[in-house]
Amino acid sequence: MKLLYETPVEWATQAIKDMDSFLQDHADAERKVANMCLSLIAKYPNRVEIIDELIQISVEELLHFKQVYELIRYRGQELNGVFQKDPYIKGLMSIVSGDSDQLFMDRLIIASVAELRGSERFKLIGEVCEDKKIARFYSNLHLQELAHIDSFIKMAKVYFDPKDVDHRTNEILQKEAEITSSLPWRSAIH
Ligand SMILES: [Fe+2]
Ligand SMILES: [Fe+2]
Repeated sequence: MKLLYETPVEWATQAIKDMDSFLQDHADAERKVANMCLSLIAKYPNRVEIIDELIQISVEELLHFKQVYELIRYRGQELNGVFQKDPYIKGLMSIVSGDSDQLFMDRLIIASVAELRGSERFKLIGEVCEDKKIARFYSNLHLQELAHIDSFIKMAKVYFDPKDVDHRTNEILQKEAEITSSLPWRSAIH
């Protein structure tokens, strides 16, 4: 899978100008992915083939949350309790429609595409960040998130025709590129 819009490295240079805000947003994003995995289990308890993997990803995202929280503390900050609406996820969810089955497939594909975008951007942050500890964290995280991209698509293909999944993935990638290229740059992942 390949993103249809490439984030320029200048995005990262600008994003890290306010590293504290970036970390707050990132901590929140990690926590949300962990929650999303748990909520998929709660909503679709009969899809037993993927429960183990959803739990595993949830655990990994929660660990990322812990690590980002540690970086927030390392910079002398605390969680600010501000939960910003994520215009990126809101935009992606706007194309979700249909019955429960279609919704299930879309959620998994959107999760995968969002992981791909996150991974792309973490790599850029790792490249431009001057604080070695934070740079190392993001360069490693970029690789860890890469594994999740395939996991979500594989889960979708357990329940749906792989051709349908690939077709829908392309539609969602196009929408994702439109959304990402039109959003103003912030000190946030999206
Ligand atoms: Fe993560
Ligand atoms: Fe992830």
